[in-house]
Amino acid sequence: MILVTGGAGFIGANFVLDWLAGGGEPVVNLDKLTYAGNLENLASLQGDQRHVFVQADIADSERVRDLMVQHQPRAVVNFAAESHVDRSIHGPEDFIQTNIVGTFRLLETVRAYWGDLSGQDKASFRFLHVSTDEVYGSLAAADPAFTETHRYEPNSPYSASKAASDHLVRAYHHTYGLPVLTTNCSNNYGPYHFPEKLIPLMIVNALAGKALPVYGDGMQVRDWLYVKDHCSAIRRVLDAGRVGEVYNVGGWNEMPNIEIVQKVCALLDAMRPRADGRSYRDQISYVADRPGHDRRYAIDARKLENELGWRPAETFETGIRKTVQWYLDNPQWVAHVQSGAYRDWVKIQYAA
Ligand code: NAD
Ligand code: DAU
Repeated sequence: MILVTGGAGFIGANFVLDWLAGGGEPVVNLDKLTYAGNLENLASLQGDQRHVFVQADIADSERVRDLMVQHQPRAVVNFAAESHVDRSIHGPEDFIQTNIVGTFRLLETVRAYWGDLSGQDKASFRFLHVSTDEVYGSLAAADPAFTETHRYEPNSPYSASKAASDHLVRAYHHTYGLPVLTTNCSNNYGPYHFPEKLIPLMIVNALAGKALPVYGDGMQVRDWLYVKDHCSAIRRVLDAGRVGEVYNVGGWNEMPNIEIVQKVCALLDAMRPRADGRSYRDQISYVADRPGHDRRYAIDARKLENELGWRPAETFETGIRKTVQWYLDNPQWVAHVQSGAYRDWVKIQYAA
C-alpha cells in the first residue's frame, strides 16, 4: 500500500488513476478537499477496494500518524499543496500553512513512522516529494535550461513556499537519514486540470464565448508536459531513484503563452467550430501582467533520462489534442467545478 497526499487534485488524481490502472498496490488517498480537490476526479474508482479516500490535512499529525499505523504504507507520495501562483499573490497565507508548515508536519509524522520500521521495510521505505521548476526562478531567453544544481531563486509566494518545502525535505534526509526523493517538474496539462490555470481556462472560456485573458505581452515561456508523463516519471523515480536525489522532469517543449493559446484556438476551430464561423482567436484579450511574472522556465531532464531511462511519451501536439478532446467530452465536470467559489475567484482575478 502507498499513501498519496493531494490525490483529489489535478496531478494527484491522474497519478492515482494511472497507478491503479497499471496494477499498482492499493492507495490510501489523503486530501483536505480544498477548492482544488475534487472527488469527481476519482469517480471511476467508486467501489474499487484498492482505493481508500480520507479527507484530512497533511498538517494534522495525529490523523496522518493513525492512518500510517493502520495502513502501513511502503511509500508516501506528497502532492498536497496550494498550487496556483495568482492565488498566492492575492493571499499567501494558505501557501505558507500547507506548503511549508504542512510539509514540515508531514515530514515529522513520516519520520516517526519510518523510525519504528525495521529491516527490509525500513530500508525500502520512500518519501517522494512532488515539487516544481518554479523554485529555480526565471531564465533569460538564451540561458541554459534548469538542471538539478541550479541555484534556488523563487520569485512568488507560491514558489518560495515550495522552495522552503524542498529544503525541509532535503534536511530530513541529510539530518535524519529519511529516505526521500524530490521531483521538480515543469508545467503540466491534461484531464482534470482546474480551469484557473492557463490551458483549461482558455478552453472553457473559449467554449463559453468569453475573453481569453493573456497576461502582459504573452511572450512568457513555459515548458509543457502532459500530466500522464509526469505521473510515469514519478513512478519511475519512486521505483529506481537514488535516495536523497533530486530529479527534474520536463517535456522538452518550451513555448510562449500566446502560442499555446493560439494552438488551443486552432484545435477548437477544427474540433468544435464557432457557430458564427469565426476563429476562437478573436476572443484573445491582452490583460494586465502578473506581478513579478517569471519570464521563462525550461527544464533539463537529462539526469532522469540518463539514470532512469525516462522520456515523455506525448509530444505537445498529441497531448494537447487529447486534452481539448477531454474537455469537450466532459462538460459536466467543467460545469461542476465552476461553482460559486470559482466564479468569485474569476471576479477577483480578472475584474479589470
Ligand atoms: P492542485 O491544486 O490541483 O491539487 C492540490 C491538491 O492538494 C488538492 O486536491 C487539494 O485539496 C489538496 N490539498 C491542499 N492542501 C492540502 C492539505 N493541507 N492537506 C491535504 N491536501 C491538501 O495541484 P496540482 O496541480 O495537482 O499540483 C500537485 C503538486 O504538484 C503540487 O505540489 C504542485 O506544487 C506540484 N506541481 C504542479 C505542477 C503543475 O503544472 N500543476 C507542476 C509541477 C509541480
Ligand atoms: O512550472 C510549474 C508550475 O506551473 C506549477 O508549479 C504550478 O503549480 C502551476 O500552476 C504552473 O504555474 P504557472 O504560473 O506557470 O501556470 P499558470 O497556468 O497559472 O500560467 C501559465 C502561464 O500563463 C504563466 O506565464 C501565466 C500565464 N497566464 C495564466 C493565466 C491563468 C495568462 O497569460 N493568463 C491567465 O489567465
